[in-house]
Formats: sequence, structure tokens, C-alpha cells
Amino acid sequence: MMCAEIICEKVSLGYETGIVAEALDFTVSRGDYLCILGENGSGKSTLVKTLLGLHPASAGKITRNISGIGYLPQQTVVQRDFPASVREIVRSGCLAKSGFRPFYTKAERGLAEQNMQRLGIADLSRRCYRSLSGGQQQRVLLARALCAADSMLLLDEPVTGLDPKAQIDLYELIAGLNRDGITIIMVSHDVRAAVQYASHILQIGAKKQLFFGTAEAYRESEIGQTFLAAGGASDD
Ligand SMILES: Nc1ncnc2c1ncn2[C@@H]1O[C@H](COP(=O)(O)OP(=O)(O)OP(=O)(O)O)[C@@H](O)[C@H]1O
Ligand SMILES: [Mg+2]
Repeated sequence: MMCAEIICEKVSLGYETGIVAEALDFTVSRGDYLCILGENGSGKSTLVKTLLGLHPASAGKITRNISGIGYLPQQTVVQRDFPASVREIVRSGCLAKSGFRPFYTKAERGLAEQNMQRLGIADLSRRCYRSLSGGQQQRVLLARALCAADSMLLLDEPVTGLDPKAQIDLYELIAGLNRDGITIIMVSHDVRAAVQYASHILQIGAKKQLFFGTAEAYRESEIGQTFLAAGGASDD
């Protein structure tokens, strides 16, 4: 049985300065793994913020049948320098639900420990976040996002800046979370990994470059073959 968690109908995205993307039609169902592809500036991060309700859609309709979404923002250098321990950062994911009271309940502390275990970072819990490798930092932020919401994760370019081994490790970890039933929406530039791991692909951009469907359908489509050829050439 298909359970739609997010439905976008004829959605346009943009700012006061103009429209960034339009005619977006797609559905995310429980347990899906949706990869959002598109060139730099095509509106992927804007779409993510719009799905989260942090930014209004310019037109169209977004239906959300989901209460909380764990979010991993696109990283900046500044954020990587954050001076707090791993445990503090993971626990802070609970703040979204707690109404920002200044302490954590026993259940919240337990949830943080559980999610650190789940992502293989329990032994790093006392370490300072900024002393970690990029791959370890992304695991910390994933554990944090899971504390905020554990039925859907929205990840904006989570593997950017990681070495190839760390990228694969993170992809495998995310695939495992998806197998556990967590719905994944991931922005990526890695077309090959997208068709390998995702169940569905949403490609945004100019009208001719729009696609929504299963990863298999994308692989067989003209647009998918074009982008796979381009993506394949650039990372070999
Ligand atoms: N707050 C803002 N106000 C006005 N324009 C913005 C704002 N944020 C982004 N934009 C513009 O919207 C467009 C889409 O930006 P967005 O960050 O969504 O692209 P993206 O697909 O995530 O790109 P990248 O692959 O580089 O991360 C860009 O032209 C950008 O300059
Ligand atoms: Mg972006």
C-alpha cells in the first residue's frame, strides 16, 4: 500500500528576485529514497527549504502527511568549525521537539546515545566536533537529524567534500537507514550513486531537463542517459 508523505503539484520555487524552478510534480511515499538532481543554481536547496516549510512555494500545492523531518543542511566551512562535543550536538537534535527547554529528559539522552550507536560514532561522543574528519562530522549531523525526526530525512549534498571511501560508507549507512524504513530525500550531484541507491529520481532545471520517476525509468530515459554519461565521465 502506498502512503504518500509529500505531494507536490505544479510547484514553483523562487524568491522576490524571480522564479528559480517551476512545474514540479512529484510524490514521496513512505519508505522511498528520492534523489534530487540538477545543476548548480537549479533550485535544489530552495526545494529542500520549501519542503521543510522554511520557505514558501511561489505557486502550486504541497501536501505533507508527515509530522517531523530530520534535516541535514548543505555544509559550509563555518558550520564545520562548531566548538561543541559530539554528544552535545547529537542531543541538540531533540531541541526541535522539546520546545527548547534548557535540559534534556532521560528519554532524550537515551535517544541520542541510541542514534550515536546506530551511526557508529558512540566512541567519539566526548570528542570536539571540529576535531573530527568530514565523514565523522556528517555522521554526527545525521545522528542529530535522527533525534529530531526518525521517519524522514532530508539531506542536502551529504557526501560533498568526503573522500571516495567515506562517500561510499555514508551512502551505505543512509541505504541502511532507508532499509530500516526511513524515507530519504537526498540532494546530490552524483548521478551514478543516485541511480544505484535511490528508488526515485527528481531532476530539476529547465523544462527539457525535468524528470520524475523511478531510478530504473531514469536510467532508461534519454535525459538520464545524457546525465549518466556526463556524470560518469567527470568522476572517472
Ligand atoms: N535567499 C535567496 N534570495 C534570493 N535568491 C536566492 C536565495 N537563495 C538562493 N537564491 C538563488 O536561487 C537559485 C537557486 O539556488 P539554490 O541554492 O536552490 O541552488 P542549488 O540547486 O541548491 O545549487 P547548488 O548545486 O550550487 O547547491 C540561485 O540562482 C540562487 O542564487
Ligand atoms: Mg544547494
